[in-house]
Amino acid sequence: MSHEFVTAHIDHFRAQLFDLLRIPSVSTSPQHTADVRRAAEWLAADLRRIGMTRVEIMPTEGHPIIYAEWLGAGTHAKTVLIYGHYDVQPAAKADGWHTEPFEPIEKDGAIYARGSSDDKGQVFAHIKAAEALLANGGQSPVNLKFLIEGEEEVGSTHLGDFITANREMLRADVCVISDSGMPTADQPAIVYGLRGIVGMQVDVYGPAQDLHSGTYGGAVHNPAQALAEIIAKLHNPDGSVAVPGFYDDVLPLSETERAELRQSALDEAIWLAQVGAPQPWGEAQYAIHERTGARPTLEINGMAGGFIETGMKGVLPARAFAKISCRLVADQQPDRILQHVRDHILNLAPPTVRVEVTPLSSGSGPAFVDIQTPAMQASIEAYAQGWGKRPVFMREGGSIPVVTDFQQELGLPVILMGFGLNNDGAHGPNEHFVTEMFRKGIHTALYFYEAVGKGRN
Ligand code: BES
Ligand code: ZN
Repeated sequence: MSHEFVTAHIDHFRAQLFDLLRIPSVSTSPQHTADVRRAAEWLAADLRRIGMTRVEIMPTEGHPIIYAEWLGAGTHAKTVLIYGHYDVQPAAKADGWHTEPFEPIEKDGAIYARGSSDDKGQVFAHIKAAEALLANGGQSPVNLKFLIEGEEEVGSTHLGDFITANREMLRADVCVISDSGMPTADQPAIVYGLRGIVGMQVDVYGPAQDLHSGTYGGAVHNPAQALAEIIAKLHNPDGSVAVPGFYDDVLPLSETERAELRQSALDEAIWLAQVGAPQPWGEAQYAIHERTGARPTLEINGMAGGFIETGMKGVLPARAFAKISCRLVADQQPDRILQHVRDHILNLAPPTVRVEVTPLSSGSGPAFVDIQTPAMQASIEAYAQGWGKRPVFMREGGSIPVVTDFQQELGLPVILMGFGLNNDGAHGPNEHFVTEMFRKGIHTALYFYEAVGKGRN
């Protein structure tokens, strides 16, 4: 019944998703604060319309959190907590988009818009699955709770405290998150490991103000050069991170795990074509999918200083800076890694400039989910039904900070049931969500609730 409802309404669901995608809910940009709020209100209205009984937009010191529940399955039934985020990364046409990022269009079987895959489209698939269940005369086999936040892309700043303060409200039997991808459209994959992240900014100060590079160049250490010299010493020639202590807490990969991970590995040529770089790079003793999923990294996210506009300017800049982040694997902890990297950078700093290292967020630790739980069985079954193929298990290089909070604060098993594809262009230009993945995602979410409802959790 519910599945037929989805089939009958899929065109309407897509039109609704387009409306949500038109709202530029960019959490990092203060000028979009009202848009972020508008996206929350849009979703709350839809959650009310589909029959969720309690729907609230709950304030935080940052962007609001949406909470919605339907407990009509009764106190003896299982409760599924669905987490997602309605905030998106920044996007501008000038970044290389073929069309406006907040004017969704469907092209070649995919929906193009910022947030289509990460994460509006994926979380919306769950809302539409819930709609299908509730439309069926309230016959849902499970109780449903939605927790949809507006700050995931900026590190889920206020969500940890929110969860601690609302433990009772969020009580559930399982938490499901669809905010990840699979390597190919016909091979479903369940993510069992995510990397953690910690970010920092390095500021290098030289002379008191910008100088004439002819008058002073050669006798003043150029901060942009000093920064480049420091950055050049953060990696070893073999691609590993040169920060002392960086690998101290890294757990080795077992042969069994390596064998399992190989099953979801993309062919190198296909991977390279997707990436568009001349060659792969990194730790040669690890396969590419191990480098991105199971090894820690130190990445320069951006660097700037001096004159970067068109034309030429003979200037010796007063300041240069870089933003750096590290992706972490078990058992690395964000604060320790931050300390190691900061110590190393300050050690490398020459006395000719002044160097400051400032954390950019509190960071989040790596997350692992237990693959031996009944909830995981339910999700394997759901994918097998939705995709007609048994899922493989994989590790992902991205981070979802709240996963460890759900596990530690709420004691919940977490299922990372992504409906996206790794090459959806998340965070980059021309982000898209394959329409067929949206449709299958809704059915798979339904199969998951049905399997959990049968008590197999
Ligand atoms: N959807 C991603 C997380 C993700 C990325 C999962 C790739 C699996 C594969 C999420 O929206 C995201 O981008 N998270 C941020 C978190 C950060 C700001 C703390 C990330 O990974 O950079
Ligand atoms: Zn993201």
